[in-house]
Amino acid sequence: MSDSPPPIAAVQTTNLSREFGDMKALSNLTLTVQRGDLFGFIGSNGAGKTTTLRILATFLTPTSGKAEVLGYDVVRDADRVRHLIGYMPDFFGVYKEMEVTEYLDFFGACYKIPSAQRDKTVADVLELVGLTEKKGFLIGALSRGMQQRLGLARVLIHDPQLLLLDEPASGLDPRARIEMMAILQELQRMGKTIIISSHILSELQTLCNRCAIIERGQLIYSGPIRGVEAGVTEGRSFWVRAGCPPATARELLLARTETRQIEIKEDRLKVFVEDPRIDGSYIAETLVGAGVRLLELREDEIGLEEVFLRVTEGATQ
Ligand SMILES: Nc1ncnc2c1ncn2[C@@H]1O[C@H](COP(=O)(O)OP(=O)(O)O)[C@@H](O)[C@H]1O
Ligand SMILES: [Mg+2]
Repeated sequence: MSDSPPPIAAVQTTNLSREFGDMKALSNLTLTVQRGDLFGFIGSNGAGKTTTLRILATFLTPTSGKAEVLGYDVVRDADRVRHLIGYMPDFFGVYKEMEVTEYLDFFGACYKIPSAQRDKTVADVLELVGLTEKKGFLIGALSRGMQQRLGLARVLIHDPQLLLLDEPASGLDPRARIEMMAILQELQRMGKTIIISSHILSELQTLCNRCAIIERGQLIYSGPIRGVEAGVTEGRSFWVRAGCPPATARELLLARTETRQIEIKEDRLKVFVEDPRIDGSYIAETLVGAGVRLLELREDEIGLEEVFLRVTEGATQ
């Protein structure tokens, strides 16, 4: 029997830890991301997501433990790692006075892409993120969703194998979020490995194939996203306040097949949906379509703590 070496993972961390003074931002994180994964990195604010991604992106050194990207150590082989990854931080400055093409050309030059080749590279990444028609625009004139997609184009310019995206969908409206997710799926089809972080589990549920959940710097779960789904599908619900008596709104919404159940809490409704893939837009359509004013509509985000409990309960049963 021939022993072929195990395939090299896109990311392998082993007991990765990072402290800031007394603060343990990350404790003994051992995690594998396989090549080709669209990997969700989930945790509440302060859980340690950004710290982990910054270490993988070589911007922060671990206090102990190690991390490898495609077999290269992020500390010892930092230069090589930088060429293999595209890192999109949670907040990045945009150059509002620059034109879209200028901006990408500038980053292409930073990666030493020869100028003869750069025009095509820039055109290719613009096409990929759906911004071809905006190429002559000033960045300041783009919507937030377009700016996020431009940020994505920027990290694609040197054709990296691994994308590290820190909450790229945060602050986007539902439509812009869906567009962003579609691009990420396309990139996965092209063979890229993608790690995307979020503090909202439902945002990644239908997108990712695998995920990790961290809390207070510690790994709580790592595995197929299905494993988490089983713990949360029961719970997706929306808070609604309408400009009509709650009982009337209830009746209108119960007539829709998307609705599973409705509870009335004072002047608001809590609407439970049948399928976790359903978003709240049908609620808006129904009420507005019936001439009712919609005063409030927001998802009742299931606390991650609750998810952890369900997932870990599942694991120990
Ligand atoms: N440069 C820093 N100095 C001190 N504390 C930090 C620093 N960066 C992060 N932290 C702390 O580490 C913890 C994890 O932060 P972070 O990785 O940003 O979490 P997340 O991205 O999941 O919200 C937080 O408690 C945060 O306050
Ligand atoms: Mg963060």
